[in-house]
Parts: sequence; structure tokens; C-alpha cells
Amino acid sequence: MRVLVIGGGGREHALVWKIRQSPKVTDIYCAPGNAGTAEIAKNVPIPADQIDQLLEFAEKNDIGLTVVGPEQPLVMGIVDRFEEKGLRVFGPTARAAELEGSKAFSKDIMKKYGLPTAEYKTFASHELAQRYFDKETGPMVVKASGLAAGKGVILCRNAEEGLKAVDTIMKDKSFGEAGDQVVIEEFLEGQEVSVLAFSDGNTVLLMDSAQDHKAAWDGDQGPNTGGMGAYSPAPVFTDIMRQKVRDKIMLPLVRAMKSEGRPYKGILYAGLMLTTMGPKILEFNARFGDPETQPLLVRMASDIVPLFEACIDGTLDQCELEW
Ligand SMILES: Nc1ncnc2c1ncn2[C@@H]1O[C@H](COP(=O)(O)OP(=O)(O)O)[C@@H](O)[C@H]1O
Ligand SMILES: [Mg+2]
Repeated sequence: MRVLVIGGGGREHALVWKIRQSPKVTDIYCAPGNAGTAEIAKNVPIPADQIDQLLEFAEKNDIGLTVVGPEQPLVMGIVDRFEEKGLRVFGPTARAAELEGSKAFSKDIMKKYGLPTAEYKTFASHELAQRYFDKETGPMVVKASGLAAGKGVILCRNAEEGLKAVDTIMKDKSFGEAGDQVVIEEFLEGQEVSVLAFSDGNTVLLMDSAQDHKAAWDGDQGPNTGGMGAYSPAPVFTDIMRQKVRDKIMLPLVRAMKSEGRPYKGILYAGLMLTTMGPKILEFNARFGDPETQPLLVRMASDIVPLFEACIDGTLDQCELEW
């Protein structure tokens, strides 16, 4: 089978590295890829958000499986477009990927179905968001609701910083239309862990845990980043926590998405804060994490290609995952 991986980060390098070990795979392409993927796959010079061109490439080159790395094409509906053409593609549809594409939507789902997450309020008007700080003094977290490449979240110690954050997101539009809505959240304390799972819309299969080095600079003194690097497993994440995360977070979420008419197939990634009250959800992502994918896939013993196929076919209940 010929496989196409979409994206050009460290995540996609790790995906290509893992996928090419599968005996089911004959050729592997990466669009647009990077210097790392060039050594182990054929790079295709099509940007990850050019869905028409990707579709044409997949059809012309007899691609049997497409794996989508980044969130942008997922939110734009790449999976829907490939499925319409009868192509096999791994990832959530646009309506399911909204779980990552809109933090406001995601929080509303968590609240509606009673999933553990920080208290929050959503605002679509700059003035109303400002007025929130008449009563609240902080600390709190101010988030642009839309996709902001991991840069749209501002941790605020007090109302003054909160007001500044709201200005940055809603008035200055520093993150573009991602800031049309803002989510203001309770500040959670604890260790942060990423848990990724395969989902076929009904069944979830959890991977081992991973943890990012979040802050820049030595000694974690710098600002938060999308991840300076990562390690797996996360020593703080116990087996009991894993069961709890599966039964109280991942499974209920997949059931919730199904009953909302947005069946969730693909990688479900929960960013969690391990608080004294138990694990709470910071956010869901609709794809593999970068950098977490790098240590995770190096440790995964199972062939990943049958897992992708089982998610597409709805047969994940027959699969196991070995480390
Ligand atoms: N409610 C919260 N309390 C404390 N820290 C938070 C909270 N929400 C987010 N953070 C911090 O901000 C980071 C980014 O927030 P997240 O919701 O994951 O958005 P994104 O990854 O889209 O930027 C998290 O990894 C975490 O370190
Ligand atoms: Mg995050």
C-alpha cells in the first residue's frame, strides 16, 4: 500500500519513520515534508493546507491511506473531502475537529456532558469580556477560541493582566479571527500530562502518557511554548489515573460526540492538568501532538498502520496496543 503523510514537522518525521516499518507499506510520501522525511520518504512539494492539490495527488498516485498530521487541514475539512472521493484517510471530519478548532465549542461539550474541566465563560464581544473583570480579580487564563498555532493562551495573575490579554486577543486581533471569541478560565494548578488515544467513533485505545517541556529557557524560567521537547512515559501518570482518564474523560467524550452527530474518528488528544481534585481537561486536540509524538512512536511496539485502518473501519475493539 502507498501511504501519504500530510504535514512538515517533527511529528510527521516520527509518523513517517513509524509507518514505513509496517510490512503493509510499499511507498511513503510526505507533503510537504522536511529534511528528515526526505531521507526516508518521498517529499511532495504541496503545502498541508492545499486540499485540492493533495486530493489530486492522492488520486493520481493510487494512495491507499492518507494520515493527516496538523490541525489546520482537519479543521478545514480535508477528511470530508477525501472521503467524498472514496479515499481512505485517517483523522476526524471538520465537524468533529471543531473540538480543537473552537475552544468555546469544546468547553460547551465538556460542560454539557459533565466532563472535568476548569470553570469558564465565553465572550464574543470585547466590551463584555472587559466587564468580566469588574468582579473577578484572578488569577485566570484568557484564551483565543480559534486556532492560534499554540500561542493564543495567556496566563494572567490578576485583572490588570486579564484586561491586557483581552485587548491583545479581541482588540489588537494578534491571533486574527481566532480571537473573535475569547474563553476566560479558572486557573488550574498541577502537573500537565498529554494523553493520546486512537478512536474509531465508539472504542478508544489509549497510548502511554507523555509530557512536554512547556516553558522556554533553562530552569523553566521562560514563557510557555507549544513544547520545547517531550518525554514518555510521564512518571506522574499512574495506571489508576490512566483508567480514570479512559472511563471518565475519553470514552464519555467519544460518546458525547456521537450523540451530537459528530462521530469522532482519529487521534483524540487530551491535555490534562493533574489537580488535587483529580485530572481536569485543559483542551482537546484533534491530532497527534508535536513534540509528544516523537517519544511516543519510538516506544510503540505495535504496527501503527492496522490501527489507523481499524479507526477508519470501526474495528478498534479488535485491536491491542503494545509498548
Ligand atoms: N485553566 C488553566 N489553568 C492553568 N494553566 C492553563 C489553563 N489552560 C491552559 N493552561 C496552560 O496554557 C497552555 C496552553 O493552553 P491550551 O488550552 O492547551 O491551548 P493551546 O495548546 O491551544 O495553546 C497549557 O498547556 C497550560 O500550560
Ligand atoms: Mg495545548
